[in-house]
Amino acid sequence: MTISYWNGRYLPLDEVHVSPLDRGFLFADGLYEVTAAYNGRLFEPEAHIARLQRGMSELRIDCTLSAGDWLGIMERLAAESGIDGDLTVYLQVTRGAAASRGHAFPAGVTPSVFGMASPLKRPPAAWRDQGVAAITIPDIRWGRCDLKTVALLGSVLAQQAATDAGVVDALQLRDGLVTEGAATNIFVVKDGVIATPLNDNRILEGITRTVILRLAAEAGLRLEERDIPVAELETADEIWISSTTKEITPVTSLNGKPVGTGAPGMVWRRLFALFAERLGR
Ligand code: PDD
Repeated sequence: MTISYWNGRYLPLDEVHVSPLDRGFLFADGLYEVTAAYNGRLFEPEAHIARLQRGMSELRIDCTLSAGDWLGIMERLAAESGIDGDLTVYLQVTRGAAASRGHAFPAGVTPSVFGMASPLKRPPAAWRDQGVAAITIPDIRWGRCDLKTVALLGSVLAQQAATDAGVVDALQLRDGLVTEGAATNIFVVKDGVIATPLNDNRILEGITRTVILRLAAEAGLRLEERDIPVAELETADEIWISSTTKEITPVTSLNGKPVGTGAPGMVWRRLFALFAERLGR
């Protein structure tokens, strides 16, 4: 049985018992992180911890764990997972379980902290060779998409729309602009220039996105953070989606029409090679 972390203890996953009064369960009042580990090494753990800590500060979830404590939990879960190969470490913190149900923050409640490791299924080689298909859908999520909360029904419905359509992702559109995939950030390439939506309340600041920005700068590629009108999806030479689990995946078909040449593009090829190097591949 997989080892997990629960409020200070390491124990088998099936021995974790959560109170029905936990605010994560009742209100989705909590945050999470998914961090990959390749060859036993966590990828950008400090960035994931910093995002979690920012979220807790924004939501006033008062957790006493330090950045070093979080890192220690992640490292121990990864080391003792018993998983042979690449893995992800999932972390979740909720506001905790109060004595009764009520919307406003309860006083004197200790946050609930959970963690577990799972095998990482890396994107199949076919995704890199041929790219993937996607659809567009309206973005019906709330106004604080910058917070990585466990309130994921918008993402669940978006991913299900993609699954129902037989494609890999659903690119979400809000007020005529591109926001995010179901659980990915979006990049668009035109005439060699990469563009990605601005990092504001409409999107999550993906750690993979941050790595892409860094790699593009180091490689001297032009990258713009700006609003992306929906029309630019139609004229794009390349579209990519990025996340911890989808890495950087080219979208080569959108709403049944080819993107650019209909094959993974040259800019993606260049950037993905640099990314794979960072992963140790
Ligand atoms: N999701 N946008 C959304 C809405 C996401 O849920 C995610 C990741 C990302 C990409 O973030 P990152 O590069 O830090 O993984 C963007 C995770 C993987 C999940 O929910 O499983």
